[in-house]
Amino acid sequence: MSNKDSWNSADLVNAYVNEHALQKPEETILGIVKDKLNNWRMLDLGIGLGRTTLHFAPLVKEYVGTDYSFGMIKTYQKLFPETNPNVQVRLSDARMMQEFESGYFDFILFSFNGIDYISHEDRIDALKEVKRIGKKGGLFVFSTHNLQYVDNLYTIKLHNGLRYSAYQCYRYFRLIYENGFPGKYRDKDFAILNDGAHHFKLNTYYIKPAAQVEQLERLGFKNIRLFSLKTGGEVEKARLNGAGKDSWIYYLCEI
Ligand SMILES: C[S@@+](CC[C@H](N)C(=O)[O-])C[C@H]1O[C@@H](n2cnc3c(N)ncnc32)[C@H](O)[C@@H]1O
Repeated sequence: MSNKDSWNSADLVNAYVNEHALQKPEETILGIVKDKLNNWRMLDLGIGLGRTTLHFAPLVKEYVGTDYSFGMIKTYQKLFPETNPNVQVRLSDARMMQEFESGYFDFILFSFNGIDYISHEDRIDALKEVKRIGKKGGLFVFSTHNLQYVDNLYTIKLHNGLRYSAYQCYRYFRLIYENGFPGKYRDKDFAILNDGAHHFKLNTYYIKPAAQVEQLERLGFKNIRLFSLKTGGEVEKARLNGAGKDSWIYYLCEI
């Protein structure tokens, strides 16, 4: 099953129905941009069921949300029978966004690791598209899984009852079966892993923070800042190689 098919399935769509709160780094970033939002056109890529719509759409001049999963868009439209003409939602793939003109958006968000469900080559295409449709000097925010966290995936938490513990053991051995041992990834900059999320239904891109910064710089993004999932605080550039506690990290950069 492809990632796109998985995101279209009822299981994954339903998993997001009760997600409403912002993650800590999203709160930090909202605090940084809040005063400017009322003048901005925002594109929210991979909106899923609109967790971020709740927080951002009321604050911006124009809000466009997109997702490549028909299941997500259909359910989103049931949850938000929108009447505000400044809020639009449509089916669209972040890899090819020819429906949007160049330099249109002031602020582009790809939250909760949406960018991690495409191949490396497609990721580069999606980032180039963000660069094209974003205004020069505008902002791009996204999160991505941290390859330096991988050792922590391979832990068995034996508590909370027999059923939970049995699943943890199954998960541990399935992780080894799907991905090999974690040591395999130490010398890599990025890798695609099946990390067990949503019962092993997704292949997910993981990247080392320093390599992510380099990837963005190579594509022309500037003033890149990183924010920790655990604390919401900024991660110092000098300490990127030691950043292993966050399963994913938020990036804020200038287009
Ligand atoms: C983890 S969910 C996050 C949903 C929502 N943004 C949130 O923060 O709650 C990732 C979303 O990204 C979408 N997605 C993944 N790849 C995409 C692509 N190439 N184009 C558009 N949407 C994509 C998925 O369909 C899914 O809805």
